[in-house]
Amino acid sequence: MKPFNLYLPVRYYFGFNLWEEKLKDFLPLLGDRILLVTGKNFAKKYGYAYKIIELCKNKGSNCIWYNDISPNPKTYEIEKGGEIAKKEKITGLLGFGGGSVMDATKAISILAKNKGNIWEYTMMQKSPQEVLPFGLIPTTPATGSEINSTSIISNVSEKRKWGIFDEKIFPSFSIVDPSLSETLDRDYLSLCSIDIITHVLEPFVTGRENAEVIKGVAKFYIKKVIEEVKILRKEPKNKKARENMHLLSGLALSGIATRGTGGFHEMHWLEHIVSGFFDNVPHPAGLSILLIPWLKYRLNKNENNIKELFSYLMDKENVSKEEIFEYLDNFYEEINLPRSFKEYGIKEDNIEDFIREYRFLSDKFPRFFVEKIEEKDLLKIFEEALK
Ligand SMILES: [Fe+2]
Repeated sequence: MKPFNLYLPVRYYFGFNLWEEKLKDFLPLLGDRILLVTGKNFAKKYGYAYKIIELCKNKGSNCIWYNDISPNPKTYEIEKGGEIAKKEKITGLLGFGGGSVMDATKAISILAKNKGNIWEYTMMQKSPQEVLPFGLIPTTPATGSEINSTSIISNVSEKRKWGIFDEKIFPSFSIVDPSLSETLDRDYLSLCSIDIITHVLEPFVTGRENAEVIKGVAKFYIKKVIEEVKILRKEPKNKKARENMHLLSGLALSGIATRGTGGFHEMHWLEHIVSGFFDNVPHPAGLSILLIPWLKYRLNKNENNIKELFSYLMDKENVSKEEIFEYLDNFYEEINLPRSFKEYGIKEDNIEDFIREYRFLSDKFPRFFVEKIEEKDLLKIFEEALK
């Protein structure tokens, strides 16, 4: 097994229909001037933001609501949040929303206490001295941001989506209440499942060490997500399946299913490159489109890992390549996943930009690109993702 670190300093609370009760207990950790960070619609439409403001009031805290975070959160949205936090002398942040809101909250916690612009902190170029404490309440089962110290943000003028990776941005607490995703559209839920699956699948496939226990956990997580998303599409009120999806979303990126294998998140970087250029591509949609072309590329390098995984998922010994891709075709059709970048306005001409950006990123930040993908292979992956 590859030597590895595991550090999970998050007060993680999990319970169905209990977010309000638990928030009352955790609010004192955020002080008496709280910035509530949300997206533009969900927290307002279902009245959650008003409930939180009321809860803060009852606990003797002031709550200021910042609801300008969009999908693929932008540097300027984070910078505006940082300015508000400084001006209002905010003592703690509460992020209520999907992965974008959670990642933006993490980034705002940096700017609330530091000078400079947020982009300087991406890709481990700079580390903050201090951050504001913050709590997270996820409303989708997808990114796992509630349990880790990563924040992915977009720089629209540079056409780039990069990450902040810093132990200082672990949440002080996370409240995971699966009831909060009950109104989520079923096709969006399918996309969420692909984010969870690929967080575990990429390190499994690219793994180079016989980390038997970690790989066993990884296979079980992937199989469970596949089972539960199929159930939830038909039965949105199935509590057990929804609980499992939310739990797996955090566990997938906790390190427990990925460390020690020597594997890495190669395909996630390809997605970040594409949606850096095309902000209209939601993160999980990009992953869904890239997964099959990327697996075809990886078959030449990691055939054993891929066959091991799919034999387990399909309950069948010695599966063939054809059977693996037939299984994936059926899964994609059953849960209605996107398979081409064409529907997002991307054209063959754009591939050149993606490859150039890959070259730039992998040269500048080699620690994130453990094995470089050759240009001819990149071309094949992107061409197939555009069919
Ligand atoms: Fe992801």
